[in-house]
Amino acid sequence: MDPKQKALLEQFQARIDAEEKIEPKDWMPDEYRKTLIRQISQHAHSEIVGMLPEGNWIGRAPSLRRKVALLAKVQDEAGHGLYLYGAAETLGAEREDLIDELHEGKAKYSSIFNYPTLSWADIGAIGWLVDGAAIMNQVMLTRTSYGPYARAMVRICKEESFHQRQGYEIMLTLCRGTEAQKRMAQDALNRWWWPSLMMFGPSDKDSKHTEQSMQWKIKRKTNDELRQQFVDVTVPQADFLGITVPDPDLKWNEVTGHYDFGEIDWDEFWRVVKGDGPCNEQRMKARIKAHEEGAWVREAAMAYAEKRRQRKEREEAVQVA
Ligand code: 3HC
Repeated sequence: MDPKQKALLEQFQARIDAEEKIEPKDWMPDEYRKTLIRQISQHAHSEIVGMLPEGNWIGRAPSLRRKVALLAKVQDEAGHGLYLYGAAETLGAEREDLIDELHEGKAKYSSIFNYPTLSWADIGAIGWLVDGAAIMNQVMLTRTSYGPYARAMVRICKEESFHQRQGYEIMLTLCRGTEAQKRMAQDALNRWWWPSLMMFGPSDKDSKHTEQSMQWKIKRKTNDELRQQFVDVTVPQADFLGITVPDPDLKWNEVTGHYDFGEIDWDEFWRVVKGDGPCNEQRMKARIKAHEEGAWVREAAMAYAEKRRQRKEREEAVQVA
């Protein structure tokens, strides 16, 4: 490495170590830019694809109140996605390219969204567990070293808290309801517990990005640390609901002050990440169809913006003349 590049890298790391935020116009290592575009775009894709499993239940919500809350949540997720695509664009990424990569199967999104929503209780479990896990991760990301990403997280976390609370309230209503409703809640917990733990990524020993992401303070906690934090917070919530976490190895450890829990099925994790989950194909088909059917909106917005630009140009030309 040439001395100039080495000096730049050392100055950059010193800024990171001093807790300075890196802004779009600052010098940054290519690898820092690249891994942020990778992570932020996948985060954005997750928000957008995550609308599909829940959107499936807007028309079937059991009451107007539940429908309104679910509609608001799904609309929030769209906004989160647009916000995050905007953060990726500050790094020089092109939004259209990112979306093309998703549709061509070249970009990842969170594995959790490749599971089906089979009952209304799944909507409760998603809010409680999936948004609960997302909050765990996103609160940590409010302290990430890249400025625009950290700031986007502050706004997103405020809305996620509502998502998690409305999900938990659905579960509470079902668990305080009829025996059939409580069974539906237990069935949802059985199906969503382990995929929610997988949201935090592979174990630290198998994570290819964690070490560098920790050094650059993109991550402030490792995958396993966040996963453990999620288990410690969520198990008492399941106890309060009166339903059982589907893990025979789950046990409070007085010595560590954490819950010990069973081994994640990493074969299932990588199978789903690599595209062979229960709903991967269905999700991509729905995303591509929605993108194609929405082309006219994008074209109309672009045409309007172009017309406004031309009118402004004409007005400025008249002023100069
Ligand atoms: N699903 C799909 N891919 C995953 C994954 C998951 N659950 N966990 C990890 N991976 C991928 C990584 O993207 C990486 O692949 P790549 O090199 O092709 O990008 C590979 O597995 C190795 O994993 P690492 O742990 O080394 O990767 P990261 O350091 O990027 O850590 C992460 C993974 C913790 C998910 C991190 O990317 C992250 O914090 N992302 C931002 C948060 C996010 O995307 N959350 C997803 C859910 S968003 C959501 O739920 C919205 C809410 O409103 C419902």
